[in-house]
Amino acid sequence: MKILIINIKELVGIDENLDPFVRGAGMGKLITIKNAFLLIGKGRILEYGSMEHLFIPEDWKKKGIKVIDATGKLVFPSFCDSHTHLVYAGSREIEYVDKIRGLSYEEISKRGGGILNSAKRLHEATETELIGQALERLEEITWLGTGAVEIKSGYGLNPEDELKMLRVIRELKSLSPLTIKATFLGAHAIPMEYRGKQHEYVDIVINEMIPQVAAEDLADYIDVFCDKGFFTTDDTERILMAGMKYGLKPKIHANELALSGGIQVGVKYGALSVDHLEYTGDAEILALQNSDTMPTILPGAAFFLNMVHAPVRKMIDAGLPVALASDFNPGSSPSGNMQLILSMGCIMYRMTPEEAINATTLNSAYAMGVSDEVGSIAVGKKANVFITVPMPGIEFMPYAYGSNKVDTVILNGKVL
Ligand code: NIG
Ligand code: FE
Repeated sequence: MKILIINIKELVGIDENLDPFVRGAGMGKLITIKNAFLLIGKGRILEYGSMEHLFIPEDWKKKGIKVIDATGKLVFPSFCDSHTHLVYAGSREIEYVDKIRGLSYEEISKRGGGILNSAKRLHEATETELIGQALERLEEITWLGTGAVEIKSGYGLNPEDELKMLRVIRELKSLSPLTIKATFLGAHAIPMEYRGKQHEYVDIVINEMIPQVAAEDLADYIDVFCDKGFFTTDDTERILMAGMKYGLKPKIHANELALSGGIQVGVKYGALSVDHLEYTGDAEILALQNSDTMPTILPGAAFFLNMVHAPVRKMIDAGLPVALASDFNPGSSPSGNMQLILSMGCIMYRMTPEEAINATTLNSAYAMGVSDEVGSIAVGKKANVFITVPMPGIEFMPYAYGSNKVDTVILNGKVL
């Protein structure tokens, strides 16, 4: 069945040149059509344009076209959330209270809390339980406008549990209408028993985990938490080289806690994205300028941990692209609400609504390797779009933060 959306107040995110991403001043340009239509069929975008140019055949009902009248409403390409850890067991609100009382993320981690706390709970959970919890989170973000999501392992921290997590993600790919990519993050934290002999844990990641992940074809990408108190740049290089031998492209956690050298390592190994970037100086910006690596900001984590903000304005003004993602996880960002991330991009980082919309759609699609398929309105792309509630214009989307402004969700050409 074809879907024809008519009388769209504004169709947002049109991308005639099929750009893989936008950068610098280009991020401030968001192409839209006012009073538009959008035609969808076989799961894809077939046609779009101004209502003046729309011809509806008289026998459209016979032809099996479902017409949706979007008077007063906007249509957006679905959000792409290129960085999440949304497979996890339970929650960590007790640490949240510790944080409010003054403990830092690093202090909580040093005493065995944080990621290790989630690893313990994940170990105790069955695959079925993990799938159940993750499906609820996927359902929630679907209705908030997300159409594609990357999910990392990294709460296993031993071969058996890392594989368990990745098998759960594989199952989610078949159960959910969302476009899902899986990232292997065995190097997320150093288990207690390897403290002081970290290289032994890195050896296990390289010699045991990566070959098994590759043998079962469980991951699309490989990640390392390259930062102060976690994995060094040397560890990161070794792990990335091992993963790349099996065709796993890097996407790394870098410079959240210090000027760790993570950005440069990511660029050196052609990472698809480097994420967090609170500590980004001129040398890091220079390294990124000569690369195809997407700098990805995670405003939810910066907000929740009350961290310094990445110099996003400086990065865009230096001609860089920027993507925004949620980091949905139980420790540093327990929300996958990309509408909120859009607002945070504008409020906390002084991004214009146009820049922030590009950063949560096309650029974040690139950051998870799917910008040829989703992330913008282009003929032939997957029909992953949402219709908003009635609103005055695109600025209203980040402005009216905290409420759900998604009215109708269409994924793979189907109305949910
Ligand atoms: O991206 N920074 C490292 N990892 C996650 C946090 C994971 C956790 O605390 O459970 C992040 O913020
Ligand atoms: Fe993360």
